[in-house]
Amino acid sequence: MSIRFRLLLSFTSVVIVSVILFMATAYLLSVAVTGDFRSISSFYRIHYSLNPLSEEEESIFLDLKYLAKHDPAKLKDVSLLEKYDNQLKMVQANLIVREENEIIYASPSLLQTDLSKLLPKYDMNNISIRNTMNLGSRFYSYAKFDFYYSEYTTDKGSIYVTKERSPFAEIVRKLLPSLIGVFLAILLLTSLLLYRYVTRKIVKPLDELRRSAEHIKDGDLTFQLQSKSKDEVGQLVMSFENMRQKLLESVQLQLHYEDNRKQLLSNISHDLRTPITTIKGYAEGIRDGVTNTKEKLDRYVNAIHVRSTDLERLVDELLYYSKLDMNKEPYSFQEIELHAFLRYSLKEMSIELDQNKIQVTWRNETDELAYVMADTEKLKRVIVNLVDNCLKYMTGQPKKIEIGFSSRSEDCLVWITDNGPGIHPDSLPHIFERFYREEPSRSRDAGGSGLGLAIAKHIIEGHGGQIWAESSHGHGTTIFFVLKKFVDHR
Ligand SMILES: Nc1ncnc2c1ncn2[C@@H]1O[C@H](COP(=O)(O)OP(=O)(O)OP(=O)(O)O)[C@@H](O)[C@H]1O
Ligand SMILES: [Mg+2]
Repeated sequence: MSIRFRLLLSFTSVVIVSVILFMATAYLLSVAVTGDFRSISSFYRIHYSLNPLSEEEESIFLDLKYLAKHDPAKLKDVSLLEKYDNQLKMVQANLIVREENEIIYASPSLLQTDLSKLLPKYDMNNISIRNTMNLGSRFYSYAKFDFYYSEYTTDKGSIYVTKERSPFAEIVRKLLPSLIGVFLAILLLTSLLLYRYVTRKIVKPLDELRRSAEHIKDGDLTFQLQSKSKDEVGQLVMSFENMRQKLLESVQLQLHYEDNRKQLLSNISHDLRTPITTIKGYAEGIRDGVTNTKEKLDRYVNAIHVRSTDLERLVDELLYYSKLDMNKEPYSFQEIELHAFLRYSLKEMSIELDQNKIQVTWRNETDELAYVMADTEKLKRVIVNLVDNCLKYMTGQPKKIEIGFSSRSEDCLVWITDNGPGIHPDSLPHIFERFYREEPSRSRDAGGSGLGLAIAKHIIEGHGGQIWAESSHGHGTTIFFVLKKFVDHR
């Protein structure tokens, strides 16, 4: 049985139970106000056929009416009237008999009021036999009959069988049909609204959840769920949505790794193949006697040496990178003053920098000493890789490198700027990926494995820092990195 059906069922039963309860209340109310417990139908009959009396009262009234028609003189007999009155008293009704304007009999409970003035006027055609009236502050329903005491006189008389009603009964009598209608309408409307609300808040989100689960089962992790509500169902939907996102991320990551692995393999084979082919070519040249002179032989052997060195460097880099990647290259941290360390590292490269006629300028934004925890060997490797790139890619003249250093509240920022060709905006986001080389530089003689920046990124992140690049194509490149300052807690 679906929840929707159950809801419908429960709402219907609520409506039915409410109607039954309402009817019962109405019945009890009718008994309370009419004093007639026989049935609710009598409540209706009494009021809607304008029959103000119950069956018993009515039969007494009919007896009296019969007397009035056939033997009106008897209606002057007080003892007989008392008898009838006593019968009426049993059913909480009263009797009034009048002759002209004089009350010849009235039930004792009515005697306080000035009946002769309050009773309706004579209506010898007896058009309105059953009706209601006010006697003083009290409200009565009655059946009356007007008659002549004898065929030969105009001596008029009336009999009244009255019953006290609460005015509330009268209001209820008038309003009951509309009240029932309004009540039913409200009940139906509330049930409908409630049903709609519950469906919207529970059934629909559950439906969405089921659909999402089916999508996931079919391998589609892109089906998004949305929930604005913060209730339990909303929370369930959000948890499910979080799970879907995590699943999607992990699948994407898996695919990315898989892709990476394939790319790595193809890159390694490609990068190893090129120097090997060249070495093989030179070796074959020697074997085939192409190097018939000493100079030629020297050139070939030199070329083989250079390529083998490249190859060795590439394999070394690859090995180093894979060790970093697998966290097999342990870090040995020590406290250093970063600015001094940078100056020292650059000094070590001064021969190379001089050879390439590179102007190095320093921009030190603070004189403050900045201590960081670093693995000096690895950090030096980062600086060498960054400066090496500047040397490698700068073509124009004059070649300039600016090394900046800024000590901030919690960390130190270092940047190395060159006035080289810059990096194309399309390539910029990728330069820290392993084996990534901008297309022109692949064909350029500059060579390189595309591992330099990937290694730098690994090392800086291994120090808990960050590294990034900014470049304006054609005007130069800046590589920034930040390292956290060392705070001595001793
Ligand atoms: N200073 C720079 N100016 C211009 N392009 C740069 C600069 N630094 C890096 N690049 C671009 O980023 C790419 C990746 O650099 P990375 O240092 O990782 O590799 P590589 O220099 O090609 O090889 P390797 O450093 O392993 O010898 C380079 O191929 C180059 O296209
Ligand atoms: Mg490089």
